[in-house]
Amino acid sequence: MLQTLDAELARGRTAFGSAGTLEDLDAAQVAVMGRKSAFSRLQKGLGGLDAEERRTVGARANAVRAELDEVLATRRATLQEAAEVVLLEADRVDLTLPGRRPRAGSLHPLTMVERDVTEVFTRMGFRVAEGPEIEDDWHNFQALNIPEDHPARTMKDSLYVAIPGHPELLLRTETSSVQIRTMQTQPPPVYIIAPGRVYRRETADPTHLSVFHQVEALVVDEGITFADLKGTLEAMVKEMFGERRRVRLGPAYFPFVEPGAEVGVSCFKCDGVGCRVCGNGWIELLGAGMVHPAVLENCGYDSERYTGFAFGVGIERIALLRYGIPDIRMLVDGDVRFLEQFGAAT
Ligand code: FA5
Repeated sequence: MLQTLDAELARGRTAFGSAGTLEDLDAAQVAVMGRKSAFSRLQKGLGGLDAEERRTVGARANAVRAELDEVLATRRATLQEAAEVVLLEADRVDLTLPGRRPRAGSLHPLTMVERDVTEVFTRMGFRVAEGPEIEDDWHNFQALNIPEDHPARTMKDSLYVAIPGHPELLLRTETSSVQIRTMQTQPPPVYIIAPGRVYRRETADPTHLSVFHQVEALVVDEGITFADLKGTLEAMVKEMFGERRRVRLGPAYFPFVEPGAEVGVSCFKCDGVGCRVCGNGWIELLGAGMVHPAVLENCGYDSERYTGFAFGVGIERIALLRYGIPDIRMLVDGDVRFLEQFGAAT
């Protein structure tokens, strides 16, 4: 029996020591110390021995059990630690990895241009004015010296709004209606700009949209001349495009100014030669002129005492010239690959 105990102790040491996992160790424990093990059988047989033998073998059996328990506990601790290391390794977070940046949006190029134009003019002392996008016939046409039967109405290809009881409403064709609304609400002097959206029944092409944006400027004061208009335009063009672009001023007709002018800037693509973008080498940027005395009188201003100038510039056209955009429609397509080229958000 003592030999058996020694053999079982040796077997237990080997079995526990070679268990590679906690499951293996449990199985080894059952095999070496379980109810059906040689060790248990031996313990049960102790009762059949005489007192002397029982004491000797019993003491040895207890010592063997104590040693097996200790080997088992040591091995279990080692295996538990190893299992924890494996778990921790699996759960490891590498804090040194670069994070995932949220995609930052950027301002739309039209917003950037509108803000820049506004900034240039507010620096020159202009105030920002607003008017509604749905206008009445009087503000959009009549007060601007465009009576009902005037051919300039058909030129504008207006979009009328069918609201019962309001037959005269239309989507404003130009921001010039804000000239009227401003003069109606304040006495001279007037120095305002009015950025906003306008609508025309137009077929889109590389330089035309049917919904686009303008910035209107209106100055009314004593002693304002065409030279003031020209100086202001030159200052704006220089600020927006730098010194390189050439500016062309030609006569033009708008019923609400006299004289009227059209301002073109040399094309960014062909530099004035003529191409698909511009046609004849120039991109029309704005219409301008000296405010017609009839318009001043329509708003209750004394046209003998006050004179003024006004102009309306296309925001999309500025963007085309500034960023070298070959087709105005790209500005409204909403293609992120195009839009994200316009720099960081502010
Ligand atoms: C006007 O709208 C006049 N109200 C401008 C004006 C104001 C003249 C004050 C005199 C005094 P016009 O239709 O030319 O004019 O348009 C002015 C500018 O808007 C153009 O020079 C161009 O830059 C822009 N524009 C006109 N039509 C379109 C269009 N379909 N798509 C994009 N931009 C356009």
